[in-house]
Amino acid sequence: MTTNRMVRAASASLAALLLTGTALAADLPALGPLPPAPAPSDNPTTPAKVELGKKLFWDGRLSGNGSMGCVACHSPDLGWGTGGAISFGYPGTQHWRKSQTVLNSAHYNKLFWEGSVTSLEGQAEAAAEGGVAGNGDSAMMEMRLRLVPEYVAEFKKVFGTEWPHISDAWKAIAAFQRTLNSDPEKVPFDRFMKGDQTAISAEAKRGLDLFKGKAGCVSCHNGPLLSDQSFHDTGVPDNPVFQTDPHYQITLRWQHYQKGVAEDYYRKGTTDDGLYYVTKRAEDKGKFRTPSLREIAYTGPYMHNGVLETLEAVVEFYDKGGGESRSGTKTLKPLGLTEQEKKDLLAFLGTLSMDQPLTVKEPTLPESRPLPRAGTTASEAPAAKPASSHAHHMQATPAAAPTKKKD
Ligand code: HEC
Ligand code: HEC
Repeated sequence: MTTNRMVRAASASLAALLLTGTALAADLPALGPLPPAPAPSDNPTTPAKVELGKKLFWDGRLSGNGSMGCVACHSPDLGWGTGGAISFGYPGTQHWRKSQTVLNSAHYNKLFWEGSVTSLEGQAEAAAEGGVAGNGDSAMMEMRLRLVPEYVAEFKKVFGTEWPHISDAWKAIAAFQRTLNSDPEKVPFDRFMKGDQTAISAEAKRGLDLFKGKAGCVSCHNGPLLSDQSFHDTGVPDNPVFQTDPHYQITLRWQHYQKGVAEDYYRKGTTDDGLYYVTKRAEDKGKFRTPSLREIAYTGPYMHNGVLETLEAVVEFYDKGGGESRSGTKTLKPLGLTEQEKKDLLAFLGTLSMDQPLTVKEPTLPESRPLPRAGTTASEAPAAKPASSHAHHMQATPAAAPTKKKD
């Protein structure tokens, strides 16, 4: 009798457990190829705008010193990031976070590790003006564009204005970034999801089952982007440089100040608190936006501060149940994966990137010319060479978070 009841109770709760599991998986946005990148109605993507935006992405004139254009920290050769753990910053400063890839960024509804900006247009401005990123002054950057005859003509064609407006520069850059997406034809996992059973190995197929099942990754990494676009405290440990290097500490304090935390907190704070800066709620400390897992073969090291060097290290991190909670709630539990299961999971993670990294042909930047004196034409004036960001991006100076409203 007792035994029967116990058995019945046990199987009922097991069934409930299985049901919850199934219900959970079924409720989550399904994995699959990315749809075309959405564009806002006030900034439709056109080929001419994309061409212009590509040049501007490369153009150091959209930064304070003429050398820190977007490409300086989002290099196509380095997964459209800096390739390092924490990004370098505007010369003379140190950034405090890892440079995110701009690939597939059009698919996020909130940008930056703490989700502080909601459009690529707003993000471009924040980056170009941010004190540890581009450190540019809007009016100065706009003047620079106005003294480039080729830009004057292109802005007129694309935006219909007599002179380039800096806000249109951000629109063009956003339009260019909307073209930087994983191509489903070139991603093994996407080919598999479209029905090609041979596109991924048996190991990777087992890894997919673990991802959706035992390892529970899909509860946060879901949908075509493999991100729930939400914020979680996984307990990623601090990057030790914040204990040893004053440049990082300067930026951390400066960020705290910019982001308006309480004075005591600003003086004593030693950690990057992520979403907390946006909400100022204690339970949001240590929460960061779930990153997409697309193109991760090219974008290591991993996490907001690059502390996990390899995907093997990431899998070990999750297998142990993540790190210490900062928000007060432990989100992850130890997974108890076998060595083979870890390999399977890694094999699956290996199917989420394009066969070859996405690169584009570097644009040729147009030259600045002095405005014509009365009675002459612009073409008679001598040309000045543009300062390219590109030569600069390996510089080992500290790195980048934009200011105030910016990141
Ligand atoms: C000094 C290096 C640096 C420069 C210059 C720079 N960025 Fe970034 N970028 C970063 C870092 C670091 C982050 C992550 C910052 C954070 O989350 O606080 C980032 C984040 C981003 C993101 C967010 C991606 C995501 O997944 O949310 C986009 C988009 C982006 N940058 C585009 C640009 C554009 C456009 C420019 C030029 C106008 C630019 N960046 C200039 C370093 C830089
Ligand atoms: C509770 C939600 C959650 C779960 C479950 C989860 N992740 Fe994450 N994942 C995140 C967040 C949030 C980050 C960013 C953390 C940070 O930077 O501090 C992240 C980061 C990553 C990164 C680094 C990506 C990059 O660009 O730096 C990888 C890889 C990753 N997760 C894989 C996995 C795998 C594999 C699993 C399952 C074993 C998993 N995640 C389970 C939320 C989750």
